Amino acid sequence: MAVKIGEKKSIVGRSLNDQEKYGFEGAGYIGKVLMSRGENPVLGRKIFMDLTKPHLVLVCGKRGGGKSYTMAVILEEFARLPLSVKNRLSVITIDTVGIFWSLKFANKKNPKELAEWDLKPQESDVRVLVPKGKLKFYQEKGLPVSGAFSIKASELDSVEWMALFKLTWKDPEGVLITRVVERVKEKLGSYYGIDELIAAIKSDTESTKIVQQALVNRLNVAKTWGIIEKEGTRIKEIAKAGAITIIDVSAYRQAIGMEGTRDIIVALIGKKLFEERMLFRKEEEMKLMKTGKRESGMPIVWMLIDEAHMFMPRDEKNLALQVLLEWVRVGRQPGLSLLLATQRPGKLHPDAISQCDLFISHRMTSQPDIDAVAAISPSYMHQDIGHLYSEMPRSKGYALIIDDNSEKIWMVKIRPRFSWDAGVTASAFTR
Ligand SMILES: Nc1ncnc2c1ncn2[C@@H]1O[C@H](COP(=O)(O)OP(=O)(O)OP(=O)(O)O)[C@@H](O)[C@H]1O
Ligand SMILES: [Mg+2]
Repeated sequence: MAVKIGEKKSIVGRSLNDQEKYGFEGAGYIGKVLMSRGENPVLGRKIFMDLTKPHLVLVCGKRGGGKSYTMAVILEEFARLPLSVKNRLSVITIDTVGIFWSLKFANKKNPKELAEWDLKPQESDVRVLVPKGKLKFYQEKGLPVSGAFSIKASELDSVEWMALFKLTWKDPEGVLITRVVERVKEKLGSYYGIDELIAAIKSDTESTKIVQQALVNRLNVAKTWGIIEKEGTRIKEIAKAGAITIIDVSAYRQAIGMEGTRDIIVALIGKKLFEERMLFRKEEEMKLMKTGKRESGMPIVWMLIDEAHMFMPRDEKNLALQVLLEWVRVGRQPGLSLLLATQRPGKLHPDAISQCDLFISHRMTSQPDIDAVAAISPSYMHQDIGHLYSEMPRSKGYALIIDDNSEKIWMVKIRPRFSWDAGVTASAFTR
């Protein structure tokens, strides 16, 4: 058991100026500093994380290292924020594995561990949204779904349709989908679905029947994904203020060839949010020019992405990549925060690493991955990052935190979850 001493606390992700101004308001309790290693590690000061300002947080660690667990702890803290702060935030989590729904249930598995931390099991108020056409799939599995969402067909440009079907401008199907999307848009405005696209393909006079059929087949498959519809969920509904939303896309893990569906969800949500926030920001500036007064600050949107290397790969194309790079590069201004979790930082786009201002890393052993994050090493870090990893205790939940905002480095143990952990490692034992 870890020994408890003193109740000092520190905050990561908050500059010294902001610490003076806001103290610990709007910060979440994520763990305790490791004071000394050994068989009975001594844990000291509590570590809080700022949840109110735009950040780029990178959570790394090898398989089973505790990344998803740490994300869940952070989500619990979002859910526990006082309403005055929470209502100024919107939190969206992209759940590729289907594990975050269990935040809705209290942690009855490890009451002892929680008690050691003076904490109690607690449920968190999150909503789980699933793709509309997959609602039954989730309900049959008995998962506590709060609602369904879909994407409006007219929001996909021809480039996105092509990417979704892995087509290029050189493919006759690529040429056809481009023409058809334009025509349907002209005729029906923004109110059309896959059926209208299929009808337009069938009545196209400039393409062969074979090309038409090939494209119709693809669109019929897209229909089975159950996500692209005539009427989509409004982005304001997805990014609801004060809501902690889990977008569960794990249904698309099952079938080969459906990866694009996940990507398009992240790409479109990311793109819409970016556009909306930019607009909001412009309005705010206009008001400032006219009235000389800045309206109360802008709500912050957080997007948390588990297995982020899937969406921001280093050497591959991905529909979501360009959108997320925009978030990474200019998200601070419109108030867009990203938390990216990955077991393969070496496979992640380098900008996502170099731009991160808060780095939380569990154990890593693969040299290429350690090399990739070594790029982070700031001037205030006087030790080689590989050395810090070698010093990290082997048991679960320990993490290195490098914080650019306070220019501090901490070795911490992430606190136990209040909520049920649905991501436990599979085992052949039944007890
Ligand atoms: N802070 C912690 N305290 C106690 N147990 C933990 C902690 N972090 C992780 N664990 C344990 O380790 C298990 C694996 O953690 P987690 O699922 O978060 O790993 P991961 O890094 O997301 O792995 P993967 O790369 O496979 O997704 C958890 O189910 C939990 O049992
Ligand atoms: Mg995980």
